[in-house]
Formats: sequence, structure tokens, C-alpha cells
Amino acid sequence: TTAPLIDPFARAITYLRVSVTDRCDFRCVYCMSENMTFLPKKELLTLEELDRMCSTFIRLGVEKLRITGGEPLVRRDIMTFFQAMTRHLDSGALKELTLTTNGSQLAKFAAPLHAAGVRRVNVSLDTLDDRKFADITRWGRLTQVLEGIDAAQDAGLRVKINAVALKGVNEDELFTLQEWCAKRDMDLTFIEVMPMGDLGNEDRLDQYWSLKDLRARLAERFSLIDLAERTGGPARYVQLQETGQKIGFITPLTHNFCESCNRVRLTCTGELYMCLGQEDMADLRAPLRASGEDAPLEEAIRAAIRLKPKGHDFDYSRQTVDGQVSRHMSHTGG
Ligand code: GTP
Ligand code: 5AD
Ligand code: SF4
Repeated sequence: TTAPLIDPFARAITYLRVSVTDRCDFRCVYCMSENMTFLPKKELLTLEELDRMCSTFIRLGVEKLRITGGEPLVRRDIMTFFQAMTRHLDSGALKELTLTTNGSQLAKFAAPLHAAGVRRVNVSLDTLDDRKFADITRWGRLTQVLEGIDAAQDAGLRVKINAVALKGVNEDELFTLQEWCAKRDMDLTFIEVMPMGDLGNEDRLDQYWSLKDLRARLAERFSLIDLAERTGGPARYVQLQETGQKIGFITPLTHNFCESCNRVRLTCTGELYMCLGQEDMADLRAPLRASGEDAPLEEAIRAAIRLKPKGHDFDYSRQTVDGQVSRHMSHTGG
């Protein structure tokens, strides 16, 4: 019998986020610099190694796998990996297999993802305006993403939209986004922009739009019902009484949700980050590659979980970028 993963603060680790590539076909301003250098291929875990890694975590009690990137769907042959994970859904060990995507490849992959057992996808979309979309993503085309979202819904996938709240950028689209999602029966979650990477953080500070303010604006038009339920993610939800729609808020900077954290993050090179907002990590690639035996890898995972910190250090309150994390979001997959 294998004991589940419990961290020093008595939190059970049941949710693994896995970044399968650091690459992306977009270059969102808050996520990447324009000319990124990406990792050489030999640094990446192979699809077989990703399978072994995820299967080990599932054996240790992980019930939810979220595949991220970079953009997960630009990784070559990624469907092979999703299809391999289906066996853990079939056995009942894995309760949810899902991904966070920019949507650009969904037209192609929606149906095979559904066939592999994926039922929900989170799509990142900050604006419905062509020009703003091009500004934010630098390289993206809005219509391609909208086609991807349509394909996902046609394939039977539930879509949740993630929008980073950006002052002076999508402030005026609050109700446009909300209405657009309501019409398509999609939940919508807003995320406060986090100080990741060396991306010119003065800009990020200028663009910081508190979700407290966003919520107050929503409340001018709708009656907001606070929902107690959580998805195992960091979002808190309200329901709009008038439409029944759910709106989520992810507020790493104004609301600390660390006390109920259930997740760790695996990078595409096999580093395990215990917290999004901290530098602590453990290399799992070495024990994985050192031996075909699973015991050393399991022990390395347990040892890593013993290092999970109580919480992160993001802090905008002093109007500095204290607690800023130097790695890019694409490295740990959000
Ligand atoms: P579900 O609840 O299953 O929908 O997943 P989720 O909201 O955790 O996943 P998603 O990838 O959509 O997360 C959206 C964003 O929330 C991430 O990209 C991060 O920006 C942020 N986020 C997710 N988990 C954490 C966390 O543990 N800490 C912090 N600070 N932010 C997080
Ligand atoms: N702050 C907040 N959210 C971010 N994302 C990427 N970079 C940042 C950041 N600096 C979001 C994306 C996507 C998710 C994977 O992470 O927009 O919704
Ligand atoms: Fe790509 Fe997502 Fe980063 Fe944008 S936020 S560059 S879509 S990984």
C-alpha cells in the first residue's frame, strides 16, 4: 500500500500540473519576452518519461492532472501522451485529465482530446478585440482561437475562459466578455496579473487591476452570490443572480489561498516546483533517468513534498516588485 502525499502543513497533494513544453506559438506580454530562447530538446522529458512521471504521481494519490505549457498543444505528438493517460481514467485512479491552452490548436485537437477522456478545457482569452488580442499575444490571431473554442464546444468539451485582468487594456471589456461567455454557456475566471519573469515589471505594475475593483463593477450591474464550492483550483466563484452564470476570481495578490493548496507543478524538464510563487524546486529528472526502478523516484517525490512551503511571497502592497519570481510563467505552466 502506498501512503498518499501529505505536506508538512497537512495538505494532501492530489493535483499535479504538468508543463509539457516551454514553447508557445504566442508571446503574451505578461508571460514571455519577444525573443525567447527555448530549451534544447534533450533537456525535455520524453513523452515516455512524462508518462512514467505522471503514473508515479497517480500511484501516490494524484487524482487530477492539468497539462500546461507554454502551449501544450504545440508539443509534437502530444496526443500520444493524452491517449496514454486515458488508462488511468479508465482504472478510476485519475478523476480528471484536463489542460490549459491558448486555444490556437483546438480546432485540430478538440475531438481527439475528448476521445482521450478530457471533458473540460481552460482557454486563455483576455480580449475579444482583434487589435488588442494582437497587441497582448504579439503573434496571435483572435479568429483562430475563436474557431478553436467553437470546435471544443462542438466536440463536447466544457470550456472555461481565463482572462488576465489588465488595467487600461481589457477594463472596458468586462461586460462584453461576461455577456459573450454567458451566451456560450461558459464560465469565466479573471486572474490578477502576477510579477513573473524579467518582462519590464514597471508595465505589469501599471497594468495591475485589482479584482476587488473588478468585482465592485460587476456588482453595479448584477447581484453577486458568493459560492462556497471550489474546483480544487485557486478560484473563488460568484454567481450572477440575474443570469446564473459563474464568474471566478484568482487573486494571488490580494487574497491568499495557500492554506488549501493541493497542487505541485512539474516543469517540462522534470523539476518539481512546490509553489508557484517560490523558487524551491526538486529535480525529479535525475532519479527518473538514473533507474528503471520506481522506488527512488517515489522517494524523491516524497522528499520534495516535505519541502512544500506554507505559501508564496508575492506582494504588490509596497508598490515594489518584492517577492517577484524571476522565472517566466511558461516555465512552470501557470
Ligand atoms: P480549475 O480550478 O480546474 O479550473 O483549474 P485552475 O483555475 O487552477 O487552472 P488554470 O490553469 O485555469 O489556472 C489559471 C491560473 O491561475 C494559472 O495559470 C495561474 O495564473 C493561476 N494559478 C493556478 N494555480 C495557482 C496557485 O497555486 N497559486 C497561484 N498564485 N496562482 C495559481
Ligand atoms: N500573471 C497572471 N496570469 C498569467 N498567465 C500567464 N502569465 C501570467 C501572469 N504574469 C496566465 C495566462 C493563462 C494562464 C496559463 O496563465 O493568461 O490564463
Ligand atoms: Fe503562450 Fe499562454 Fe504564455 Fe500567452 S500566456 S505566451 S498563450 S503560454
